[in-house]
Amino acid sequence: MKKINSVEEFNKRIKGILVTKEEIDEKIKEAGKYIDNIYDGRPILLVSILKGAFVFMADICRAVTVPSEIGFMCAKSYYEGTESSGVVKITMDLDRDISGYHVVIIEDIVDTGRTLNDILKLLAARNPISLRVITLLDKPSRRIVEFTPDMSLFTIPDHFVIGYGLDCNEYFRNLPYIAEYSED
Ligand code: IMP
Ligand code: MG
Repeated sequence: MKKINSVEEFNKRIKGILVTKEEIDEKIKEAGKYIDNIYDGRPILLVSILKGAFVFMADICRAVTVPSEIGFMCAKSYYEGTESSGVVKITMDLDRDISGYHVVIIEDIVDTGRTLNDILKLLAARNPISLRVITLLDKPSRRIVEFTPDMSLFTIPDHFVIGYGLDCNEYFRNLPYIAEYSED
């Protein structure tokens, strides 16, 4: 994994802002209302896929008003840089039985579709009352496995993006906006 050694090098890789913090904030409010309307007071379990969705989860969980529990699982698909390995590995599972729960998966981005396809199959087999997926970003042009999220906040072109939880080699997750990543 390539280390970034200076602020100059770090900033050089942030090519341009694709989605501003204000645009994200606006859509988060809409997503909160969407969830509130669907569940209409019924309790839910929000499940965030780490690490990429941790920032999105923090904002989404504060935008909903239905009683919510929070869960995390960790899936890895990109191992190095910007290339998808095609192998989805669950490296940390949920800490509870989800049968009897309305489960809402909170994901950062749907790219090839493999990660969510695998996670959905896994969670569906555990008999939740219902299972939905909300993704911050969707890159439909990259799909390899057929998959449509219940809600996507932003549809973006085929660029590798960073910020608001999304990384490249573990850097840039703390940017408050979503930017395009630059190799050079
Ligand atoms: P998929 O299995 O190909 O749909 O990939 C989903 C996962 O790959 C996401 O949850 C991200 O962690 C990662 N990923 C896909 N595209 C990007 C990107 O543009 N920037 C950062 N991570 C990405
Ligand atoms: Mg992810």
